[in-house]
Amino acid sequence: MAIGISDRCRNIQPSVTLAIDSRAKQLRAMGLDVIGFGAGEPDFDTPKYIKDAAKDALDAGLTKYTPVAGTLELKSEIQAKLLRDNGLEYELTDIIVCTGAKQCLFNALSAILNPGDEVLIPAPAWVSYPEMVSIAGGVPVLVKSNEADGFTVSAEELERHVTEKTKALILNSPNNPTGCVLSRELLKAYADLAVKHQFYVISDEIYEKLIYDGGKHVSIASLGDEIKAQTIVINGVSKSYAMTGWRIGYAAGPKNVIKAMTSFQSHTTSNANSIAQHAAAVALTNGERFMHESLMEFTARRNIMYDMINSIDGLSCSMPAGAFYMMLNISSLIGKSVNGKTINGSDDFAGALLESKMVAVVPARAFGDDNYVRLSYATTREKIIVGISRIAEFVKECE
Ligand SMILES: Cc1ncc(COP(=O)(O)O)c(C=O)c1O
Repeated sequence: MAIGISDRCRNIQPSVTLAIDSRAKQLRAMGLDVIGFGAGEPDFDTPKYIKDAAKDALDAGLTKYTPVAGTLELKSEIQAKLLRDNGLEYELTDIIVCTGAKQCLFNALSAILNPGDEVLIPAPAWVSYPEMVSIAGGVPVLVKSNEADGFTVSAEELERHVTEKTKALILNSPNNPTGCVLSRELLKAYADLAVKHQFYVISDEIYEKLIYDGGKHVSIASLGDEIKAQTIVINGVSKSYAMTGWRIGYAAGPKNVIKAMTSFQSHTTSNANSIAQHAAAVALTNGERFMHESLMEFTARRNIMYDMINSIDGLSCSMPAGAFYMMLNISSLIGKSVNGKTINGSDDFAGALLESKMVAVVPARAFGDDNYVRLSYATTREKIIVGISRIAEFVKECE
């Protein structure tokens, strides 16, 4: 008999996206031309000035342990960024640097949750939130939204799910997977709710720099002193500076929470990579031109994808206001058949599309809604045109 693994790990849901992803890789390895709409990262290379900074860090011998919560250099740049972009004033001791925004989120949940504490998560939501909450001992409470409401949950609906065990609310604006950007008014209503019921807000702002059509990002922490004292702001350089592989994220929040996150991290991974910390500090000083250019390119890609999808009979999508994802509504195809197989949900749709047209999409069952698949437009315009044309052919074959 094998020696068992923990219940905690056994209960982690396998990533639904993984099956599609590994099949897409298999097909590519067979020499087939697979178009991938699954990417969760910008396809651009990291800007040169940032790569140069990493080389400088190596040459300067910045190869040793740094303070657990991050170097003074990077924390100072983060402090300046939060003030400049978000109107948020933090002391250096209110900031921690982690190995990606993902580690910030897990540190934060580990710092605040006791077993059984509930965490509200408006859905559709990024797959990792519920899993992280469970691993940290909490109970994820998904509060479903729908497309007709712009994939947002009203404060009243959220309040219906508040119990005496509610410890936190996770917000993600701009949102993965819906592309929704929360308005100041809605954020204010959420803030009032959090203050009234005394729970934390974990505000994941990783897609902050990807907002289209002149829209403006608002951090919920900037809406007053009371809500700021209950909010843990999460951000990082992964998506805005095309630095996903560098693994630098940061969090700012109440001193006791940041202190607890730092203690937790001190016994798990210690500091984030020293070279990447220097590069991230330099990234934060000077990225406006790069971010403007990538925003323009993402806007063009979004528009092409949106127009093409909405011209296909049987499919539709709403215009995303931020991030680089689109929710493709496949509800009218549920129950239909293609190549003798019935489409019972988003897994079937994604599987059949990949096998017959070599297009990889992410089934949104993973995000909490089986009537959708998620498309990422972090890929070239040419690939978007070819891929969506193939989807149109696929839909014609559904009967
Ligand atoms: C909503 C959201 N938060 C956090 C992350 C993780 O960011 P990082 O690469 O900095 O860990 C992602 C990555 O896909 C994401 O989509």
